[in-house]
Amino acid sequence: MEPAETLELQCALAWPPVTGERLGNWWLRAADGFTGRANSALAIGDPGLPLAGALDRVCDFAHSHGLDPMVQTVKGGALEPALADLGWAPNVAHEAGHEVSVLLGPPGGPAETSRILEEPTFGWWELCAGTSEPSEAARHVLTTAPALGYGVAEVGTETVGAVRGAVVDDVVHVSRLAVLPAYRRKGLAVDLMAAAGAWGAARGATRCALQVSVTNAPALALYERLGFTEHHRYRYWVPAAASCEDRSS
Ligand SMILES: CC(C)(COP(=O)(O)OP(=O)(O)OC[C@H]1O[C@@H](n2cnc3c(N)ncnc32)[C@H](O)[C@@H]1OP(=O)(O)O)[C@@H](O)C(=O)NCCC(=O)NCCS
Repeated sequence: MEPAETLELQCALAWPPVTGERLGNWWLRAADGFTGRANSALAIGDPGLPLAGALDRVCDFAHSHGLDPMVQTVKGGALEPALADLGWAPNVAHEAGHEVSVLLGPPGGPAETSRILEEPTFGWWELCAGTSEPSEAARHVLTTAPALGYGVAEVGTETVGAVRGAVVDDVVHVSRLAVLPAYRRKGLAVDLMAAAGAWGAARGATRCALQVSVTNAPALALYERLGFTEHHRYRYWVPAAASCEDRSS
């Protein structure tokens, strides 16, 4: 099996921050607070300096972008005990869930009714960003990647389900899958996943990756049914308050 780090980098490229800065192999990311992934330091590989110094840089970068510092790690990787030794802890307060399962599965398809659009529509934004008027940062993250498709499931003129697909190398990264509550358990998510998978396969993807909170039971049940299995997990870590003072002002 390929290392978690390789897949993490591919997933990260599918979810680009507004501002990114390399710290050795780490990636410091900021996007005005839109999602943990785009507003944390991806701690993969060697940061190029001792860990305590690297974490100071993470804190300074976050503060200079008005963010609370956060590090994204591969769960169970060598970095986690070292972070804990320096007073960092899993960010159990992270709203979307601090522990995330990264799943791999076959790119499905073909879809029955769902379509992949080249541009996002109002209905797509409402489902995938929770608003038809997303912030600049949300717009940037969701519409920037090497190859992007915007999946919709429609009933009449209403968009009742949506998904985002991004192809990076041989992976189609699927995110933001959502179906309106009144239309759930009718197979629309399965169809949207098929549409995203077929769209990705037509652009060279041989597998599908997605990231789902370990607490999201409906989504985990859906993905298991579609043949996805867990590749690894990632977690978000935050510093003890006293170890990371704001030096940006
Ligand atoms: C997860 C979600 C997209 C599923 O959409 P959906 O259109 O209802 O899913 P489908 O009808 O295609 O479900 C297919 C299968 O997935 C599984 N499944 C879906 N929802 C489930 C639930 N709430 N509980 C248990 N299993 C579920 C079932 O096996 C289901 O088949 P069945 O209805 O024949 O039992 C929807 O619940 C949703 O929008 N949730 C909020 C957003 C979200 O969590 N997105 C995932 C982010 S990773």
